[in-house]
Amino acid sequence: MPSVVVVGTQWGDEGKGKIVDLLAERADYIVRFQGGNNAGHTLVINGRKHILHLIPSGIFHEGKTCLIGNGVVVDPAVLLSEIDRLQESGLPVPPGKLYLSEKAHLIMPYHKAIDLGRESLRGKTRIGTTGRGIGPCYEDKIARRGIRVSDLLDPELFGQKLKEILEEKNFYLQKYLGRDPLSYEEVYETYLRYGERLAPYVANISEILDQARREGKNILFEGAQGTQLDIDHGTYPFVTSSNTVAGNACAGAGVGPTSIDYVLGIAKAYTTRVGEGPFPTELRDATGDHLRECGGEYGSTTGRPRRCGWLDGVILREAARLNGLSGLAITKLDVLSGLTEIRFCEAYELEGRRLSSLPARVSEIYRVKPLYRSFRGWQEDLSNCRRLEDLPSAAREYLHFIEDYTGVPVVMVSTGPSRDQNILIRDPFRA
Ligand code: GDP
Ligand code: IMO
Ligand code: MG
Repeated sequence: MPSVVVVGTQWGDEGKGKIVDLLAERADYIVRFQGGNNAGHTLVINGRKHILHLIPSGIFHEGKTCLIGNGVVVDPAVLLSEIDRLQESGLPVPPGKLYLSEKAHLIMPYHKAIDLGRESLRGKTRIGTTGRGIGPCYEDKIARRGIRVSDLLDPELFGQKLKEILEEKNFYLQKYLGRDPLSYEEVYETYLRYGERLAPYVANISEILDQARREGKNILFEGAQGTQLDIDHGTYPFVTSSNTVAGNACAGAGVGPTSIDYVLGIAKAYTTRVGEGPFPTELRDATGDHLRECGGEYGSTTGRPRRCGWLDGVILREAARLNGLSGLAITKLDVLSGLTEIRFCEAYELEGRRLSSLPARVSEIYRVKPLYRSFRGWQEDLSNCRRLEDLPSAAREYLHFIEDYTGVPVVMVSTGPSRDQNILIRDPFRA
């Protein structure tokens, strides 16, 4: 009856969706616990690509239950269109297959307007957010003026709350951000309709998970974003607005820390980042372009080209510590094929000092110089490798070094975007 948490160890887009889809076969429940539709998790099943933003990546398996926990911020329009899209592609998502926490906060139209308004006002100092209203929604949650899923189900209460909040938001939108105000009636009517459609999905997720544990079910928690985007531990302020570390699986789904058995960190064999902020191992050269093209590194949510660079051991070690990683899944190893040399950042240098962790101040992170260890590359195509022995010795050396350096065993290696392109070394559900 193990519970496994999957988290990103870098700046997101490590391939969490693919790994969660793979592990979902062994799980009974798949749970999102933070973030919102800033996430874009890609699954390739039978040659067909699916991108999920809110619905957990276990949805393509029969007989599994997908849960959206209280820690997720939910744009109801996006959730409903995701349900509709799956239905159109022949996969019905009825209540029972998917549940939504009654305590999850709703992304409202003013959250999106404020997110976009602030970013354009900031100009050069922008964060490079996804523009989905994530930050402003979490702000309202913490400020205790958020609207939750359960509020939507009580039209009178919802109306009162919306009226009060909208007055303040419209003032801010018009007077500070120079944007159009939102109409109360329009938002009210639209959201009530969303509420009616979502009502059958609404549930107490904590109770469902408690019951599941008592019945000895396997639970898989699906993190979004990555450790360096964590609101506390990431490269602040160039982060997202939630805790992305494994510990938040508990608060964000309503389970206790004693119920987590295994934490799987997902790491790309190199590093990428979307949006602004420091990125010590970034390659602004032909090798960076090579990684972007070979890895198809374009955002699954916004389509933006991802910044690419070498694997950064310093942030991997931080991820091991901050998440308490039990194992690592290394993804996109196939993308490194064809390079003559592969580099791995072992430490940073700042003003003559060697650093083995990231400074807290972003102004300092911008100035660190990566210190690299060099590995020989390999030319072989890895996309058909299914066992460690199938990998060229240079690739195995690279993986062994990552294990030694981080102190975390590599338990899975992904060698392509499809569900079956994996080397499974140890099953996290049987660890
Ligand atoms: P997530 O946000 O962590 O779920 O990752 P994304 O889906 O945003 O980005 C990962 C991208 O890499 C997607 O396009 C995946 O289909 C693709 N991908 C995942 N694993 C592999 C792999 O091992 N090799 C290759 N070539 N592509 C992969
Ligand atoms: P998945 O789950 C990569 C980044 C944005 C921006 C910063 C803040 O697919 O790995 P936000 O809209 O959250 O306020 O933006 O965080 N970001 C992601 N980058 N993958 C993600 O999710 C991301 N979600 C947010 O690009 O830099
Ligand atoms: Mg993604």
